Amino acid sequence: MTESPKKPKNYFVKSFGCQMNVYDSERMAELLAAEGMAAATDAESADLVVLNTCHIREKAAEKVYSEIGRLKKNNAGSRVVVAGCVAQAEGEEIVRRAPSVDVVVGPQAYHRLPELIRQAGERRAIDTDMPPVSKFDALPKRSRQGASAFLTVQEGCDKFCTYCVVPYTRGAELSRSFAAVMDEARALVDGGAREITLLGQNVNAWTGSDDKGADVGLDALVRALDALPGVKRIRYTTSHPNDMTEGLIRAHAEVEKLMPYLHLPVQSGNDRVLKAMNRSHSRESYLRIIERVRAARPDIAISGDFIVGFPGETEAEFLDTLEIVRAVNYAQAYSFKYSPRPGTPAADMTGRVAAEVMEDRLARLQALLGDQQRAFNETTVGKRVDVLLERPGRRTGQLVGKSPWLQSVHVEVAGAAIGDLVTVDIVSAGPNSLAGILPAKVAA
Ligand code: SAH
Ligand code: SF4
Ligand code: F3S
Repeated sequence: MTESPKKPKNYFVKSFGCQMNVYDSERMAELLAAEGMAAATDAESADLVVLNTCHIREKAAEKVYSEIGRLKKNNAGSRVVVAGCVAQAEGEEIVRRAPSVDVVVGPQAYHRLPELIRQAGERRAIDTDMPPVSKFDALPKRSRQGASAFLTVQEGCDKFCTYCVVPYTRGAELSRSFAAVMDEARALVDGGAREITLLGQNVNAWTGSDDKGADVGLDALVRALDALPGVKRIRYTTSHPNDMTEGLIRAHAEVEKLMPYLHLPVQSGNDRVLKAMNRSHSRESYLRIIERVRAARPDIAISGDFIVGFPGETEAEFLDTLEIVRAVNYAQAYSFKYSPRPGTPAADMTGRVAAEVMEDRLARLQALLGDQQRAFNETTVGKRVDVLLERPGRRTGQLVGKSPWLQSVHVEVAGAAIGDLVTVDIVSAGPNSLAGILPAKVAA
């Protein structure tokens, strides 16, 4: 008789990729905790390690195999679960290439994790279904939270940008119900959250029926959160330009708790490239949206995503991207070299841009974006801003929080605690963070 492997006693979840994966990792951790497993401090000391993977670019996807290798070297006895978007996209290949992996589970099936782990005691378990029953209904209620919490309200994507794997790894656009979102928001606040960030691959495509049965968009969720006692700040990400509705723009003008920050990826500043990317917005239409958003909320910080070296991109077309960056003036941004992804239309396009050309374009774009970010951070020096304290800093007596514009602020605070919203004088700015002090108390 073969001995059945011991039930894992503790777990560690390692998250790669976007915020939706961070959210899913938290929910998997809660699920494993509900099974009676303890949280391990690192992957090396865990009986069960979940790698929650990202498939967006080749480098991200390949990382999973090196992670598995490292894990097997440092913690040979651990059980390994590969979850997330690589699991969804190449589940069979993982099973073939990495014999030490016990469970492969996709982003829409991870509520079945406990059952899959039990199955894997006898044979390797793989589950990349996109079941019609929502995983959200099967997950345990949200538990203790940090000051800032993520809440996934919308999943999947129907936009099919020609370079992108998300519509394949995450499936079709699906909105969670208004009631389910508000229930989870209440649980998050009860657990200690003071800021809620609504998440979705296209979060502003969220639609639902409110408590009166009316068809509503994301702005209705924002307004409902605004009315929820205990919520101090509201954010949402990531947005698609085509789903930037009038109602949502108005919410930026009217809802004080909605933070002045908008992540609105444009990818390229050239209309031919945008068309080839199937972005369904133009350079002009994007700029008009930014104009309307800024009219509604003049101090809003704009953030974006960019891809350089899309197939066929010429130097002149790349210069249009630099041009739109100058026109918008970003507070923050992410930029990437185009990475061909299997199964996407762009992977079959001609006109691959040479690696060194991409490298050069990325460096020029990042230099400009870096200058803009630094300049934006500088504008806050000397200002008095609200900071939501989120975690301890490196030095004793120091806490780190976020400004309304999502900048990290290091604050020397005595008498304040994590979760507090404090008013801080910004005294200096670096490229990636700010330093602040509590205003000197006025003598009584
Ligand atoms: N839903 C979000 C983006 C999700 S992916 C949106 O539409 O804005 C995050 C970013 O990764 C994208 O905005 C894009 O800039 C980048 N990206 C996606 N696929 C890529 C690829 N094949 N190569 C390089 N960058 C890519
Ligand atoms: Fe990918 Fe485009 Fe969908 Fe964003 S909108 S997830 S880039 S397909
Ligand atoms: Fe990556 Fe999947 Fe997010 S591919 S970016 S983890 S949706």
